[in-house]
Amino acid sequence: MSSTLDPATGRAQITAKTLRTDRWWLSPLLTAAGLMAWVLYAVIHTFMQKWYFVPEYNYLTPFYSPCVSLGCDPAAAHFGRFVPDVWWLPYALVSLPFLGLFRFTCYYYRKAYYRSFWMSPPACAVAEPHRRYTGETRFPLLGQNLHRYFFYAAVILSVINTYDALHAFVKADGSFGLGLGNLILLGNVILLWAYTISCHSCRSIMGGRLNHFSKHPVRYKIWGFVSRLNGKHQELAWTTLATLAITDFYIMAVSAGWISDLRIVG
Ligand code: FES
Repeated sequence: MSSTLDPATGRAQITAKTLRTDRWWLSPLLTAAGLMAWVLYAVIHTFMQKWYFVPEYNYLTPFYSPCVSLGCDPAAAHFGRFVPDVWWLPYALVSLPFLGLFRFTCYYYRKAYYRSFWMSPPACAVAEPHRRYTGETRFPLLGQNLHRYFFYAAVILSVINTYDALHAFVKADGSFGLGLGNLILLGNVILLWAYTISCHSCRSIMGGRLNHFSKHPVRYKIWGFVSRLNGKHQELAWTTLATLAITDFYIMAVSAGWISDLRIVG
């Protein structure tokens, strides 16, 4: 197999698309299938505008939090209801765009969908179909650099999710309650925090622009902790997609009356 260097790009020019003989296409295929399945599920339940809240146990799905539509159950709307109740506006209109953009601009998801959808490149040592590589230096991909700001929004929304998970320990009659739904909500929010804190922007915010770690021992400790979590960012990205879907589906199933919440206390 002959190869020459392209004088413009400096890349090796080989006649074959790739010399790899393993199943390099499996990973981008599974990634695309997983992401599409999740987005489809999320879009369907988001626009159903029902089965998002269990009033008796104050279980509110993260897909509808904070619930700010005039169509929200008042008991689920802790931050006011001010969005018109029309079918094409999600009940969590304030949070969903930011959460979507936070994930869309995430360093890991960028890698995932650049490879699986944009094929740029689909795998290591596999040629991409695009003739030129422009990176993220031009519009629209230049917008990926806004990720840090979506991180700040995600922190606020994680606080709201935490509030929802804690509020669910108080039943509608004001007494303490503990059910499987509480454990699912709590587990989900802990993992959401882990994903959010493991963000590359968070790592940079904690440890960036410092010339001497020795002069900033607290930030050094936080940076070290975030760096360890950051090493698991890809796993957390997928785990939280799963826990979000499980949490949402469980609350939908209880709310719709398909199953009863497994009660431990109350
Ligand atoms: S890099 Fe993935 S959330 Fe920031």
